[in-house]
Amino acid sequence: MDWNADLYENKHDFVAEYGMDLLSNVPENPDQSILDLGCGTGTLTHALLEKSPFVTGMDASPEMIIKARQLYPGMDFRVMDACRMPWNGWFDIVFSNAAFHWIPDQGALLKAVFRVLKPQGRLICEFGAHRNILRIREAFQASLLGKELPAKTRFYFPTVEEYQCLLEQAGLHPETVMDFDRPTPLKDGPDGLRNWARQFFWADLKDRHEKRRIRIFEEMEAALRNELWDGSQWVADYRRIRVTAVK
Ligand SMILES: C[S@@+](CC[C@H](N)C(=O)[O-])C[C@H]1O[C@@H](n2cnc3c(N)ncnc32)[C@H](O)[C@@H]1O
Repeated sequence: MDWNADLYENKHDFVAEYGMDLLSNVPENPDQSILDLGCGTGTLTHALLEKSPFVTGMDASPEMIIKARQLYPGMDFRVMDACRMPWNGWFDIVFSNAAFHWIPDQGALLKAVFRVLKPQGRLICEFGAHRNILRIREAFQASLLGKELPAKTRFYFPTVEEYQCLLEQAGLHPETVMDFDRPTPLKDGPDGLRNWARQFFWADLKDRHEKRRIRIFEEMEAALRNELWDGSQWVADYRRIRVTAVK
């Protein structure tokens, strides 16, 4: 997946803004080491400094890490795949916002999280839950393929029960696993939905002609207007799953 770090930083900063709430689950402790997994442009990595001076951000996207280093010079940012993290028993906390659903091999991911945590270390994360952006995905797919089909996804959006099992299989003890609706207003009024789709569905759009993309956006907007347009902005049908688990 190619990330447009500028588009993300300027138009989709709501992702990190919502993640600020997740920060309240992170205790303050000047001795603890914290990893921000899938840190993107580093907004929350920087905010984590309020909890401890020892914060590392990592992300698979070089574009995101270049932007994070520009925005927060002097902080520790690394480019790497979360399933191949090199540390062993290194972090007290693995924090992650809106990144886990991008990673298809959840078994490998949770194994890696287990490995990098110290004994008694804690995973604190939030990402897309079962039925996340379901109506948007259905409309996008119908427009892409020209017919109504149940929404397929490139993302991993689990149920609470499914994720509890995966955590346990990886040796992590779930403390909290909960899901909830989080209707999410998108920036830029009438253009909000198409800007959002350009970022988050880019893998399906990048090889298409721009005229075809515009047609897809118009069809999506027509299909979703009754449900997701509130008269001044698009409101995306987000659902989240929030997890805390201990090694
Ligand atoms: C929606 S962004 C969230 C960024 C940031 N956590 C925030 O709250 O703004 C998802 C991030 O996950 C990263 N990501 C996806 N797959 C990854 C992987 N296998 N390893 C590390 N990072 C990954 C992406 O590169 C992207 O920066």
